[in-house]
Amino acid sequence: MFQKTIQVGVIGTGGMGGRHARNLALRTPGAQVVAVMDVDERRAGEVAEICGSVRIFTDGVALIRDAEVEAVVIASPDSTHAPLALAAIEAGKATLLEKPLASNLSDAEQILRAEMASGRRLLQIGFMREYDAAHRQVKDALLGGAIGRPLLFRGLHTNLSSGAPRTIEDVIINSAIHDIHSARWLMADEVMQVYVEHIPAVSSDPESCRLALIQMSFAGGGMAVIEMNVDAGYGYEVAINVTAESGSIGADGLSSAIVRRQQSAAQAIDPDWLARFDLAYRTEAQTWIQSASQGAVTGPNTWDGYISMVIADACIRSARTGQPQKIEAMARPSLYDRE
Ligand SMILES: NC(=O)c1ccc[n+]([C@@H]2O[C@H](COP(=O)([O-])OP(=O)(O)OC[C@H]3O[C@@H](n4cnc5c(N)ncnc54)[C@H](O)[C@@H]3O)[C@@H](O)[C@H]2O)c1
Repeated sequence: MFQKTIQVGVIGTGGMGGRHARNLALRTPGAQVVAVMDVDERRAGEVAEICGSVRIFTDGVALIRDAEVEAVVIASPDSTHAPLALAAIEAGKATLLEKPLASNLSDAEQILRAEMASGRRLLQIGFMREYDAAHRQVKDALLGGAIGRPLLFRGLHTNLSSGAPRTIEDVIINSAIHDIHSARWLMADEVMQVYVEHIPAVSSDPESCRLALIQMSFAGGGMAVIEMNVDAGYGYEVAINVTAESGSIGADGLSSAIVRRQQSAAQAIDPDWLARFDLAYRTEAQTWIQSASQGAVTGPNTWDGYISMVIADACIRSARTGQPQKIEAMARPSLYDRE
């Protein structure tokens, strides 16, 4: 199945990068983690030890250019994505780049154009919900066509707690971007217009956001509505439902067993994404390594990362202005047609 072992370097060894490094080193046949890099050297050292005493770099670009490193994971903060993604494209290395593609739209466009100029898909974007079993079941049922064309996507995304109040920009670009991608992927269509309303986390500060309601209209006439609640108080939950022409399909996203006792039923809710999408992250790593070993990235690609940023940007404008916003973007280049 694997043509060879792929030697991977991981940049950013925090929550996400540490998880990717462990999954690749310990649970992914065909992958070997050979290098890690983090500005926090202690953290890098801990992850290096778990991965089997791999080399520790102090410079992300040096790791990318290193001859031993064949494929790269970028899981450092959003603001570092653009320079590192551009270096990975220049080095011609298959890269699993965490979402969002970049921290702003102009950097996202620069990455898209650089990859287009290289003529091949090198980046896979960390929209890992595509590898979640429940999401996959919904997608496969829609592809099977038994319930007809999708008409409406409904998404619910909660965080247990936001900690300090978050801005509308951060909530959209960092959290709701997953839901924006899921809606495009399951509706199999592109977004034409968005309208966003939000409830501020701090009533005197309209830039803050506790709950956002995102409405999207698709080119083919379909619609989507997403509730993004970053301070739900009860747990981390991602639920989806698609209403189609002759049926509907959904997943409540809770994977734990239901315990019934004393005239009540209880089901545990995950605390965060690392718990909820544990298996999805493993499948994502496995699928990425398999496609990298065959020389072609097949998962969510740079177009998916770019257009999600275009939509996110329009969502932020809509929340600020109270007006619907049209999506203005180039047509999808054929390089990014999904298999
Ligand atoms: N796909 C998902 O489900 C998911 C979930 C959470 C986070 N993310 C994304 O993953 C990325 C990392 O998020 P996280 O939650 O792991 O954050 P984190 O804060 O836990 O980890 C980030 C790590 O990057 C390191 N770092 C900071 N600047 C760096 C630099 N210039 N070069 C290298 N390393 C640097 C930090 O020291 C830290 O160890 C972000 O882009 C985030 O949006 C994705």
